[in-house]
Amino acid sequence: MQVVKTAHALSQALATQDAIAFVPTMGNLHAGHIQLVELAKTKNACVVVSIFVNPLQFGANEDLSNYPRTLDADLEKLKAAGADIVFTPSEQEMYPDFDASTHNTHQSITINLPSVANELCGAARPGHFSGMATVVLKLFNLVFFNGAKTRVAIFGKKDFQQLFIIRDMVKQLNLPIEIIAGDTRREADGLAMSSRNGYLTSAQKLEAPRLYRALGLLVDAVKQGRTDFPALETQTTQFLTQLGWVVDYISIRSAETLLPATNADLKLVVLGAARQGTTRLIDNIEFTLKPN
Ligand code: PAF
Repeated sequence: MQVVKTAHALSQALATQDAIAFVPTMGNLHAGHIQLVELAKTKNACVVVSIFVNPLQFGANEDLSNYPRTLDADLEKLKAAGADIVFTPSEQEMYPDFDASTHNTHQSITINLPSVANELCGAARPGHFSGMATVVLKLFNLVFFNGAKTRVAIFGKKDFQQLFIIRDMVKQLNLPIEIIAGDTRREADGLAMSSRNGYLTSAQKLEAPRLYRALGLLVDAVKQGRTDFPALETQTTQFLTQLGWVVDYISIRSAETLLPATNADLKLVVLGAARQGTTRLIDNIEFTLKPN
């Protein structure tokens, strides 16, 4: 496994590769990330993983400085998983005008996203998805355009809205890249694996799987025929709030458009974001209804 820090070294390492399967990450890797690398390994391609905590997608009051950075352990896990190349750029490498004292990227050209990026997670995190899409496009440029003809990028379904936005960006910008979605990896109690789970106290960790269970109850209710979606969302929000959660949103949406679900939609997703203390957890469940 080769570890490269600069765009130049990356382009040299990839110059002879015809097929690339790329897994972008922010590091602090857990079994969910490794599952994405294993999916990349099935593509018969050079497996590239990036580790970059992207300042552009963090808001002023978010956890950029405290975001867990565990490079040595990450590299060991990637080596064991069979990654071929790991790209670990500095902020200056990704953002040539980066100001280390203020963390300002000075990236003045960014991706302008449709309004769905201001809903759900985007409502509580203004600018987050534009910052995410901008760095993903920059990474795609660095990783894929060194001559490879097969270009696959893999993203986890846990960040459903992120995956939706990336797919839309690839489609609308005519990027010649195939996007593949990897399933959410869960703990035995159902909690979706996330780098942010490490912030939870042991009591919060016991409570955390309830978000997934509450979304599951919502799915059951819709499958049993309930179509009063706003009322169901409010009920779940109240249920979690009574148990001490601070709920950002609980939402039933079309899995195809990410618009609020209507009675005509068959492919649905329930999404939720809620806080345990200061730790914000997200989760979702996709499901399909049988036509009447
Ligand atoms: O999902 C993540 O870890 C990040 O949003 C990504 C896609 C690596 C972009 O920084």
